Amino acid sequence: MSELDDHSPAEWRDLNHAWWEERAPLHSASLLYREGGSGLKEFEWEDLGSVTGLSVVHPQCHIGTDAISLAERGATTVGFDFSAAAIKAAPVLAEQRGTSATEWLVGDVYDGAHAVDGRTFDLVYTGKGAVCWLPDMQRWAEVMWSLCRPGGRFYLSEFHPLTDQLHDDDTTFARPYFPTGGDLFEEPGSYAARDAVTTNNVIVDFIHPLSEVMQALLDVGFQLRKIREFPFTVSKRWPWMVTNGDGIWRFPPEVPEFPMMYSLLFDKPE
Ligand SMILES: C[S@@+](CC[C@H](N)C(=O)[O-])C[C@H]1O[C@@H](n2cnc3c(N)ncnc32)[C@H](O)[C@@H]1O
Repeated sequence: MSELDDHSPAEWRDLNHAWWEERAPLHSASLLYREGGSGLKEFEWEDLGSVTGLSVVHPQCHIGTDAISLAERGATTVGFDFSAAAIKAAPVLAEQRGTSATEWLVGDVYDGAHAVDGRTFDLVYTGKGAVCWLPDMQRWAEVMWSLCRPGGRFYLSEFHPLTDQLHDDDTTFARPYFPTGGDLFEEPGSYAARDAVTTNNVIVDFIHPLSEVMQALLDVGFQLRKIREFPFTVSKRWPWMVTNGDGIWRFPPEVPEFPMMYSLLFDKPE
């Protein structure tokens, strides 16, 4: 982690970009993205209700599984991501699923308004591994605001920052909860393709406390409608986790629960 100061913020982005460019094709072929991990989960549908007829934008859409899932429930979706490889894979997946109500664009999240030509949407949907790649929550919140139409909604379902603190091997604390300004890691392979041999393996990621994320969204003018924390997650992070095949990984009875994910639903006033 100590080498972070040797790189500029632009280089952090380039390292992360190279990491994702290499992972996107691996993820297109992975079981996690093709089966249980694919698309919105029940807790997200509970939060969102019907999306039929809504225009939805998904910043950091990766290979498109969530945007496709929203389109399958009747939304018209635009997904964008800074990985051209991910945006190349997304329409292939959409076609395989028989979904046409999706548009795919390459763009950095911090340049989101430009990426979508200044359009605004009924719903801005993002998360599940999105904010940890971003250094600046205030700028991010400003972009989320600019993508949402007045009277629209912003939704984030995200891994709990507490889990970012913990070792992958056990659940002891590896990192501080409060912002460090980013940490540089060697991260070979991928959470969705564990045995993959990869060459771009250095990432820079950021723990964003719940209060930091929420305050940034409140500061731009969003109004909080709903916040939830969950004792489960959408991929198998620790060996002891259990699933019933629904793409959700839970605590076994003998392990005391802590929050693994959270969701936030905000309104943008008219
Ligand atoms: C774990 S995925 C989250 C998306 C979705 N939940 C999923 O799992 O398919 C993270 C995505 O963020 C994208 N990303 C990271 N930094 C970005 C940035 N600055 N601008 C746009 N996309 C970015 C990556 O390319 C990757 O596709």
